[in-house]
Amino acid sequence: MQDASAAIPARLLEAGPDQQVLDLCAAPGGKTLQLAATGASVTALDRSAGRLKRLAANLERMGLKAATVTANAVDWTAPDLFDAVLLDAPCSATGTFRRHPDVLWAARPADIASLSETQARLLDATAPRVAPQGRLVYCVCSLEPEEGEAQVAGFLARHPGFVLEPIAPGEGGAPADSVRPDGTLRILPFHSPGGTDGFYVARFLRQS
Ligand SMILES: C[S@@+](CC[C@H](N)C(=O)[O-])C[C@H]1O[C@@H](n2cnc3c(N)ncnc32)[C@H](O)[C@@H]1O
Repeated sequence: MQDASAAIPARLLEAGPDQQVLDLCAAPGGKTLQLAATGASVTALDRSAGRLKRLAANLERMGLKAATVTANAVDWTAPDLFDAVLLDAPCSATGTFRRHPDVLWAARPADIASLSETQARLLDATAPRVAPQGRLVYCVCSLEPEEGEAQVAGFLARHPGFVLEPIAPGEGGAPADSVRPDGTLRILPFHSPGGTDGFYVARFLRQS
């Protein structure tokens, strides 16, 4: 079970049975289950062995399959290239404040700065895993521009082989009001009836 916003990023990969898909920072596996249900060959990686156990239990409960890897995504050097990669990066989670109001008091500026550095490192480590013409979806359940818009700007500057692949209103369930002029999503809690988690989502295409 996951929030409606959290279900959008995996759909934007348009994964299918003939695709190799990498789910980075995957546990406890809400998005892994979505990806595995498409019939794609999914590799789910997380650095926490304990959280990966929950992911494995969730796969078994749903009768789905995925390969699991316990590793730090920053130093993982498997030679494989993937048609589609999801990076659900660790973040301040300020977008979840409806359900966890304490995050707005607990998140300190120093934490945001440190998480932003981690997200940039993870994005840089992820880039070489994406096959030419492959897709990369980056997402965070954060409302902070440092973890969203700034990450996209930095990544495009450092990786000229990637371009943004704009997300259309309604695609993958994206609320129309969340679509920014560059085709990334800034989902705010009031964008869906009844409320939803805040999320930032960007989809890239590897051209070379
Ligand atoms: C936002 S949660 C992921 C939620 C998950 N994608 C889902 O849909 O259920 C972030 C995850 O990133 C993992 N993580 C944090 N830093 C990591 C790293 N450097 N390498 C691999 N996993 C990492 C954490 O253990 C945590 O499980």
